[in-house]
Amino acid sequence: MQIKSAEYIGSYVHLEKCPEQHFPEYAFIGRSNVGKSSLINYLCERKALAKVSVTPGKTQTLNFFLINQTWHLVDLPGYGYAKISKRMRETWSGMIKKYVRERKQLQYVFQLVDGRISPQKIDIDFAGFLGENGIPFVIVFTKCDKLNSPETQKNIAAFKQAMSEQWEELPPMFTTSSDKKIGRESIMEFIEAANAAFR
Ligand code: GTP
Ligand code: MG
Repeated sequence: MQIKSAEYIGSYVHLEKCPEQHFPEYAFIGRSNVGKSSLINYLCERKALAKVSVTPGKTQTLNFFLINQTWHLVDLPGYGYAKISKRMRETWSGMIKKYVRERKQLQYVFQLVDGRISPQKIDIDFAGFLGENGIPFVIVFTKCDKLNSPETQKNIAAFKQAMSEQWEELPPMFTTSSDKKIGRESIMEFIEAANAAFR
């Protein structure tokens, strides 16, 4: 897919305030610091569309981007950031859960998982939440700078194994590195196909 335009639309806290356009939508989520903003910039071929943060937990709103005037990409706040208060975490959780459950235009959640570490309970749990609620999602392994390294392969296999313990069927999975520019094409093809199927 060629990116002809990519623009920031706005940041929202309430589902009711999110853009009303009937555009297919893809929401990116994952543990804080997993590389969401970097991946969004890489996919959209823009240097600073989404803000890459040095401090984890920076994104606290639903950030909307309009791509090629026809589809929405949404940068969701990262989960599992230890340094925020319990109250903040609950607000976060309420906002995200409401959005993913009720947003009609949402085609897929892109759940990002750090390919450099072994499976984390919080990631398996979040995938479980999506599955239980019947929300279509895919897994994107990030920071796979050395795609064929035994370490990366081991982490991915272990993640699949952990998911298989709960699910009969696994979601589509992609391996990426925003740093080394790996994995863009298959994700964009996936989005293109989903856009074409959108009614
Ligand atoms: P929050 O919005 O704060 O939750 O973070 P985020 O998930 O948007 O992550 P962000 O893109 O801001 O990246 C976090 C850190 O990971 C930055 O220091 C990035 O430079 C680094 N990073 C992102 N992608 C890659 C990658 O593909 N490889 C490597 N090695 N580092 C990466
Ligand atoms: Mg971010």
